[in-house]
Amino acid sequence: MRILVIGSGGREHALVWKIAQSPLAEKIFCAPGNGGIAQQAECIDIKVDDVAGLLDFARKEKIDLTVVGPEVPLAAGLVDEFINNKLRVFGPNKKAAQLEASKVFAKELMAKYAVPTADFKVFSDVKEAKAYIEKISRPCVVKADGLAAGKGVVVASDTKEALDAVSLMMEERVYGAAADKVIIEDRLEGEEASILVFTDSKKVIPLVSSQDHKRIFDNDQGPNTGGMGAYSPAPVVSERLFKEIIDKIINRVIEGLAREGIIYQGVLYAGVMITKGGPQVLEFNVRFGDPETQAILPRLNSDLIEVMASCAEGKLSRIKKLDWDARACVCVVCASGGYPGDYKKDREIFGLEDASQIKDAMVFHAGTKKTSGKYMTCGGRVLGVTGLGSTIKEAIDKAYQVAGKINFEGMHYRRDIGKKAI
Ligand code: AMP
Ligand code: GLY
Repeated sequence: MRILVIGSGGREHALVWKIAQSPLAEKIFCAPGNGGIAQQAECIDIKVDDVAGLLDFARKEKIDLTVVGPEVPLAAGLVDEFINNKLRVFGPNKKAAQLEASKVFAKELMAKYAVPTADFKVFSDVKEAKAYIEKISRPCVVKADGLAAGKGVVVASDTKEALDAVSLMMEERVYGAAADKVIIEDRLEGEEASILVFTDSKKVIPLVSSQDHKRIFDNDQGPNTGGMGAYSPAPVVSERLFKEIIDKIINRVIEGLAREGIIYQGVLYAGVMITKGGPQVLEFNVRFGDPETQAILPRLNSDLIEVMASCAEGKLSRIKKLDWDARACVCVVCASGGYPGDYKKDREIFGLEDASQIKDAMVFHAGTKKTSGKYMTCGGRVLGVTGLGSTIKEAIDKAYQVAGKINFEGMHYRRDIGKKAI
């Protein structure tokens, strides 16, 4: 098969790396890709939101399967366009992608179909939103409705912080139209986990559990990032909890969507908080997580192309089950100093060759490019160094052994990835 992967992050490198292992993969393209992805795929210079350009390319190159990494092209209706042009594509259509692109849509769907999630109210009027925060005077979370590159959520520690968040979103309009509506919801306490499933709307096949580390510094300090590391499995998700999440969250949402006339095909990601009262949904993503994917895919023994193609055709029933490596996997993200704020680019990355000699380890590239034979940094999250081990502890040691080989000016990584799991 001729495969096109859309995206340029560590998640896409892990996808390309896994797809390249399939005997079904004849040729792999990635748009736009990065320095590391170029080892396994031909990178083509088309932006992820250039739907017309991607469609044109897929038709010309006779692509058999397109795999969409990030949420932006999904929310823009790339899948609908490809399907209209009889091209096979893995990912949900525009209506289904609202589950991530509109938090109001997701919360209202959850309320209608009894999916456990924090109590909430929706506001489009700034005065009413503020009056509500004053009235409830309990810890709350303020969320912009639309896509805000992962930044539109403020977990407020007091009333003032919540009021400030509303001002920022609705008066200063820092996220533009994404905050025409805001959600104010109860703040939940507990441990977070990510549960991803493959689905074609008729059948659900779960992936193994994982957990992300959102804050920039150790012990979950400092600002939120795209994710500084991940591990799989997440021991907090017992077998009983896993089943409960599939029954009460995943199945209810997919059935709910179907009743609304929306078919969901692709990967569905539920970010859940394991509270004393059971698992509650924090958010849905309509795509693979980044960096969760880097910790999940090294554990997959089954053929990824087979699963994705079956999903895309609405024939997931062809896949009986997925085969997983019992070992644990840990991914540590190496970032540019200053990220998630301003940071320097174009620093040479050293030690990649050394790192590639280590057994049961992978280096997934994110913000890298190759110029005159050298790998250079070109983004905030630069690499995801990943290790497998028979225990989480061994996988942690492996990932940090790899990180120890790599260096670039200003490199920053957390030293406590996976610690919570042991
Ligand atoms: P979201 O994009 O909705 O997942 O929010 C980003 C992060 O904010 C989550 O991963 C949680 O750490 C946190 N968060 C979101 N909603 C809540 C909530 N209701 N209670 C506590 N933390 C939350
Ligand atoms: N790791 C969180 C996300 O992919 O949204």
